[in-house]
Amino acid sequence: MKYFLSILFLLCLLLAGCDRADREKKYVIGISQCMLDDAWRQQMIREVGIEASNYDSIKVLIKDADNDNDRQIEQIRELIAQKVDVLIISPFESAPITDVAEEAFRAGIPTIITDRKVNTNQYTTFVGANNYDLGFAAGTYAAKHLPPHATILEIWGMMGSSPAQERHNGFRDALQERTDLTFRPVEGDWRYDVAAKRLKEIDFSQPIDFVYAHNDMMAIAAREHFQAIDPVRGKELHIIGMDAVANAGLEAVADGRINVSFLYPTGGEQVIRTAMQLLRGEKVDKYIP
Ligand code: FRU
Repeated sequence: MKYFLSILFLLCLLLAGCDRADREKKYVIGISQCMLDDAWRQQMIREVGIEASNYDSIKVLIKDADNDNDRQIEQIRELIAQKVDVLIISPFESAPITDVAEEAFRAGIPTIITDRKVNTNQYTTFVGANNYDLGFAAGTYAAKHLPPHATILEIWGMMGSSPAQERHNGFRDALQERTDLTFRPVEGDWRYDVAAKRLKEIDFSQPIDFVYAHNDMMAIAAREHFQAIDPVRGKELHIIGMDAVANAGLEAVADGRINVSFLYPTGGEQVIRTAMQLLRGEKVDKYIP
């Protein structure tokens, strides 16, 4: 009996030890962010932090490429060399980040692409909202507010990033039947300051009837620009944006600077949940909307 009890005691110690070891093992989740200096990205990082705080076993390492493809490539290579357990990439532009995303995946690191796409299927999963659908919803909304023969100013996000192309395609498809419309594109690169600068360079002697901005920051820049040109028309102009994030677009809709914003979830919580599934060895879908 004594012998049996001591074996049982040893077994318990061993099991308790294993359990502790498992809990104490730190997995590193590397996140390569194309930038962090806007409200939407900051919200994403907040969501990442909140979700990550639910697990003792992970450490999250975030790199900020500060709007630069080359820096992002370099930082992803550092994360690969460091052998992070899961890599999450939000690419600056799709084409330049494609090869390095493939490198990570081929090195055997479970690789989650989020928000902006890469031009390959050599990754583990893509987590992100459907930007084509968002653009389509914006176009459907616009159709209800456009007078005949309207001129629409479309303020593009960065043309080399997939959400800009998809938001454009969805919007145009929704308005396919309106052959009376004129579209004027301008590149705002997703940024308030770039949109503000480019708008100043354009001749608006032919009036604009509607503004579709690919994000709220550029929509806000448009309102300020048109109000500066003509306070009355500038205030009445219909301007729509996307993101609807707190501390930016949501406030702008509430105080009337933007007429409407379409919600683009950051997916911060979802990427960490997905990373945890991968760490547990679970299979995940190739696309997580
Ligand atoms: C933030 C942002 C958002 C936009 C997203 C597209 O950096 O520009 O405003 O919805 O990126 O990738």
